Amino acid sequence: MAKIKCIGVLTSGGDAPGMNAAIRAVTRSAIANGIRVKGIYRGYDGLITGDVREFTTENVSNIIQTGGTILRTARSQAFMTEEGRQKAHDTLVREEIDALIIIGGNGSLTGAKIFAEEYDYPCIGLPGTIDNDLFGTDSTIGYDTTLNTILQCADKIRDTANSHERIFFIEVMGRDAGFLAQNSAIAAGAECAIIPEDNTGKDQLIEFMERGIRKSKKSCIVIVSESPTCGALHYAKRVNKEYPEFDVRVSILGHLQRGGSPTAHDRILASLVGYGAIQALLMGQRNVMVGVRNNEIVYVPFIEAVGKRKPINKGLIHMLDELSI
Ligand code: F6P
Repeated sequence: MAKIKCIGVLTSGGDAPGMNAAIRAVTRSAIANGIRVKGIYRGYDGLITGDVREFTTENVSNIIQTGGTILRTARSQAFMTEEGRQKAHDTLVREEIDALIIIGGNGSLTGAKIFAEEYDYPCIGLPGTIDNDLFGTDSTIGYDTTLNTILQCADKIRDTANSHERIFFIEVMGRDAGFLAQNSAIAAGAECAIIPEDNTGKDQLIEFMERGIRKSKKSCIVIVSESPTCGALHYAKRVNKEYPEFDVRVSILGHLQRGGSPTAHDRILASLVGYGAIQALLMGQRNVMVGVRNNEIVYVPFIEAVGKRKPINKGLIHMLDELSI
């Protein structure tokens, strides 16, 4: 296997707090091991257009504490085409980049998998998404920070919910995964979480209303996973119609969940997987996502990381029901 002399690093998909800490770890670890680093701007789009700059350790100074990504990011449509990936490969050859590190979520690592197979090119993925929906790692970079942001908002909304004796539906991100909704609900002491994984066919709103809100509480918070058809607005409208005696409000947290300074947990996770990415390359690993399980760095084949659905602990749904009586 040819020695890796130069790597490229890019961030792709939605930004996530801790991505900068990961860029820093990758860059410093590579340089410490005698490997040159090139930063690729604007995700796969920058790879296609050749938006590439050589990095020194100084390029990543003072960024561990910042949200967003200094490399910028994009959801590249062009990289989904064969023509786009051909151009991306041309850039890597021209820039003499021997391996690519991709920091991103499910879609970005799926792109990496396709590219790695198509060109037999060494790619290493780092789990960078607030959604926590990558299989094989306990957590993803940005998830913990976002959980804490949601928590701060829910605590504030609780004041108003209490004071006015209202039901609040708070909608959070997560795409099609309920990790953010479920765990922020537990941490915020919310009365219910409505998540896509709770697909028993039962009506989650009716179950919740019948369970006790009408008996024991005058105000409550329901955290709802975003959904094109049944997000927070959908449930609020239903309560207005089916339980008109309640005063209902909706708060859609939106993109304020994605920014901000990463928590200690996310900085440490990003540092571990960034360091682990260079270790992986030095050990001859290819086409894996670096994750952390039980505090150990693990290497998860792309096919598992993006091909398997990360299970949510459904026992926690019952726990939340019990703790919110
Ligand atoms: O994947 C991260 C995420 O924030 C999802 O939770 C959300 O559905 C999506 O990105 C929003 O994407 P955008 O910022 O492109 O609207």
